Order: sequence, then structure tokens, then C-alpha cells
Amino acid sequence: MGGAASVQESRHWDRLMAMAALGAIRGADGEPGVNRACLTELDRAARRLLIGWAGEAGLTVSVDAAANLFLRHEGTDPDAAPVLTGSHMDSQPNGGRFDGIWGVLAGLEAVQAIREAGIATKRPIEVVAWTNEEGGRFAPGCMGSMSYNGCKRPEDFAAVTDAEGITFGDALRALLESEADIARRPLGGKPFAYVEAHIEQGPVLEREGLDIGVVTGIQGSRWFTVTITGETAHAGTAPLGLRRDAVQDMVRAIEALNRLMADPADILRFTVGRVEVGPNSSNTVADRAVFSIDFRHPDAGVLTERGDAIEPTIRAAVRNCDVHVLERFHALPAVFDPMVREAVSRAASGLGYGQRDIASGAFHDAQFMVPLCPTGMIFIPCRKGISHNPAEYSSPEQVAKGTRVLAATLEELAAR
Ligand code: GLV
Ligand code: MN
Ligand code: MN
Ligand code: MN
Repeated sequence: MGGAASVQESRHWDRLMAMAALGAIRGADGEPGVNRACLTELDRAARRLLIGWAGEAGLTVSVDAAANLFLRHEGTDPDAAPVLTGSHMDSQPNGGRFDGIWGVLAGLEAVQAIREAGIATKRPIEVVAWTNEEGGRFAPGCMGSMSYNGCKRPEDFAAVTDAEGITFGDALRALLESEADIARRPLGGKPFAYVEAHIEQGPVLEREGLDIGVVTGIQGSRWFTVTITGETAHAGTAPLGLRRDAVQDMVRAIEALNRLMADPADILRFTVGRVEVGPNSSNTVADRAVFSIDFRHPDAGVLTERGDAIEPTIRAAVRNCDVHVLERFHALPAVFDPMVREAVSRAASGLGYGQRDIASGAFHDAQFMVPLCPTGMIFIPCRKGISHNPAEYSSPEQVAKGTRVLAATLEELAAR
């Protein structure tokens, strides 16, 4: 457990709080949250901060064509496949100080601790900050890890626009130009193993008084964007029966989807979180309604069957508007590897921390590492299970425990 003992709780916490200052916001009750969208000036500043700390820790920095940022600790066998760890630095628009960024800083602290303990690992260890995990500015999320995985290319997302009409392609190019001083590396790779540390984003560990969740896998997710197109008309004169009202057809579609997605067992998750209507005028019948669908289930069969039924259900429900359904994201349920799970569990036991197996309802970049290498995740408790909210909180002690478990896990995996 050499490296774990060298984790510096106060340095680690101070770095987390320094990152939280970049994009600091206040929640409804004054809670200190973060709004740091990917590929913005704030993201750029966060990356610079990370690069500076990596230099202090003696790590070498490189960036790929998807702007995934890597910090490398060399192994005694530099040709051995590296152990990869990390997470993301972007946040939700109304996000917290831990979702994503903790996993990156935990990786940095764990590797720095291993080095400061004087431990030479056989395999290199790399810490990665994946681009655009949240999908809050450019949908969908996980663009960086999907590009690394090879199931997508950064070019596939180039035309995606943010709320201001800026394309992902332009934002990516600008960021990479601003990091022209950073060594470029080819996209992709085949790590020996991948392990990601993250807050639980749910209430289980806190409720059970446990320090560590050994993550067993992640449920599958499918995201869709539905566009309903009708015709504008005067709200005071157009007879109801003659209208092609996009808002009314959207309501019919969502009601039908609620019936399709009904699940008495309460395992399925179905969310319409984003709605835009046009022209968005009180006295004009809307000719355009666009809404998002986020559908999740741990069973690949259910994910396929109900997900594939979404478009026919909408078409059957609308009255007289046109319908266009675009699937933006499809992440299969992921089952994590026993070798990584056992390493995490052993690390937690060795440190005397309470642990349990736990499944992830949130998606993570780890999902896209599963086809590439043995993959796993470490969860720590967060207050009341709150996340995607400025009230998100884990204590300095909880965070440090998770980072010690990560350090011990990395050390074990990098010795194999
Ligand atoms: C990612 O943040 C998710 O929505 O699970
Ligand atoms: Mn996250
Ligand atoms: Mn998130
Ligand atoms: Mn996430």
C-alpha cells in the first residue's frame, strides 16, 4: 500500500477547490457549484492548471485530436501497455464541484503519491481528462472517450452546435490551437486496464455508511432528439381542428412515450429534459417543437426493444405534424472486469475501508473503455446522493479515501 500512504489530503482538496473556482456559481440556496462547459475559456484555464500540476509532479503531458489530455508517469518497462485512469473536467450547466473533476485529480494525486513514495511501477500509468463527457454544451456526452474507443471520430461531431450556434468542430480546433505547445499523440490505444474514480451520484454508500463502491457495471443509455414540425397560425383565429400545432403533437408524443416506458419494477429511466419550441410566441401556434429523450436500462434486450419502439410510438401518437427522430447516443450496458473489480476491492480491504459492490445508473467514459481493456470504477459517497446540482458534496476525508484506494489499485495493476 506504499503509494496510498503518500496521498496528501490537503493538497488534493486544495486542488479540487482551485478547480471549483473556475466556473464558480451559486445554487438556489447559495451552495457553491460549478458551470464549466467543455472547450470554453474556463475549460482551457482548468486544463492549464492541470498541466501545471502535472509538470510539478514530473508527468509528461500530451493531447490527442479529440483534445483528450494525458499525463504520463513512465514505467520501468516503457513499452508495456499503460494503466489508464481519469475522468472528465467539464461540468453540467448547474453542476457540482466533484462530478468528473475529482476522478482526474484523484488520478493525479494517486500517481504523484506513488512517485513520492519512491515506487517504480513496471507499467506506465496515464491520467486522462476526457473531452465533453457531460454533453451539456455539445450533445451527446462522452465524445472524447468515444473517439478514443474508435466507435466515432471527432469529425463525426464537428457539425454539432451549442446554444450560440458555435460548432463542436470550431471549438475543438480553437482549443487545440491554444495548446499547440503540448505534444500531440495519436488518437486511441489499448491500455492494460482502465479505472475511473467518481462520486456515486446516488444515496447508497452514504446510507450504508460505506467508504467505497466497487462498481460492477453501468446501465445502457440511448439519447434521441425529436423534432416535430407543423405550421404557424394565428392563435386568435385558426380553428383548432385545422391547426398543425407542434406543441400539442409534442404533448401527445410524450404522453404515448410515458405509456411505452411504464415500468412497475422502477428499473427503467426515461427523461425528457430539454424542450425548445418555435417561434415561442404566446399568440402564435408553434410550428416547431424539439425535445430530448434520455432512456436507460441495465438490460440490453429492454434497451433495444423499447428504444426501437420510440419512433413508431411517436409517429402513431402525433396528429398531423411531421416527425423526425435522431438517435444521438447509444451506450450498451457495460459489465466491468473481475480483475479490476478485485483489485479495487483488495485495495479498499487493505486500507480498512467499508465497501460494497454497486451498479452505476449514470453513464461514464469508462463505458467506452470496456471494449478496449479490463475496466472498472471506484465510487465514493456524496451527500444525500445529490449530483448535477451545486449542492453536490463529498468531504475531504471521503475524497482522500477514494484516492488512496485508486493509488493502491493503480499500483497493483501497474505491477502486473
Ligand atoms: C452523465 O453525466 C450521465 O448523465 O449519466
Ligand atoms: Mn461524471
Ligand atoms: Mn455528470
Ligand atoms: Mn456522467
